[in-house]
Amino acid sequence: MKFSSIIYVLLVFSFLTMTALSIYYYLQIQQDKVKISQAVSSGTPLPDYHFALIGEELDHDYWRLVGKGAKQNETEYDVFVEYEGPERSNPEEQLKLLDKAIKKKVDGIIVQALNDEFTPLIDLAVGKGIPVITIDTDSPDSLRSAYIGTDNYAAGQLAGKALIEDTGGEAVVGIVTGRFNNTHHSLRVEGFRDVIEQEAGIDIVAIEESNIDRIGAEEKAHNMLTEHKEITALYGTSALDGTGISEAAESLDRQDLYVITFDTLEENLRLLEKGKVDALVEQQPWKMGHQSVKIMTDLINEKQVKKIHHTNSSIVRKQNLPYRQDLRGGRQ
Ligand code: BGC
Repeated sequence: MKFSSIIYVLLVFSFLTMTALSIYYYLQIQQDKVKISQAVSSGTPLPDYHFALIGEELDHDYWRLVGKGAKQNETEYDVFVEYEGPERSNPEEQLKLLDKAIKKKVDGIIVQALNDEFTPLIDLAVGKGIPVITIDTDSPDSLRSAYIGTDNYAAGQLAGKALIEDTGGEAVVGIVTGRFNNTHHSLRVEGFRDVIEQEAGIDIVAIEESNIDRIGAEEKAHNMLTEHKEITALYGTSALDGTGISEAAESLDRQDLYVITFDTLEENLRLLEKGKVDALVEQQPWKMGHQSVKIMTDLINEKQVKKIHHTNSSIVRKQNLPYRQDLRGGRQ
């Protein structure tokens, strides 16, 4: 088979898979809506509260885990969680969903506050009496009541320390980050830099945006490795960066490259097993979603709720995998 035919088949296959997944999640959301209207017409008691959970990307393993965690807590707290997000990362669309949730007058909003543009809408919601908690990415200057998620600055520091340990303190580093103005990515870069700058034998020579896209990550990593042949290590700050980076490294025959990136999603775990990625920064997306429902219910019931709920993050290397069966349970 010709190379172009292989690419064609792969493209068709990924297109079909993505379409099937999109339809599946679209239908799930529709089913939720049908369940509500059926409950209303049959007189079945409705859940006590209706929450909107708005993440970055509906069709993404990381956000599916957040959604799953939240949905699995619906019965316990007698709530309905409307899990929403743009099909593909799109901050404008995400803001529109937030606006829509405010207009719908939901009982609580759980939102990933990607950047500063989310602050006015969060404040508007709170002004209208809708409690808001941020998830995965915080907006500390807004009026949100609480944040649940990774301490993104500390996670960046963890990545820096792991890189120092694994490279023996000698490396030339390039960074592939999601977007420069995404708060969590900036913090992951800042924490990393602060640790790396203490190390005389390590320099950061380039940083590029992947635009939260694996092809973007591959392109940027490829350019970086071509322009800076001295690079010996790459750090990716977002879940899809690992795949892009390892593909670029493979096409340039750079098996020697040290790669550290975020998230213990199945795809990344496979790369770790194959030695194409050296370390992963683990986050707890399932737990973020699950806990967010409890926090929101407590807020509504005027219980005392602390402002910051940091979920754990740690470094996972290939040698840890046999002891971390839990990573593959879909529940993290
Ligand atoms: C981040 C999420 C992001 C996902 C996909 C994760 O590392 O915490 O905010 O949506 O990567 O890029």
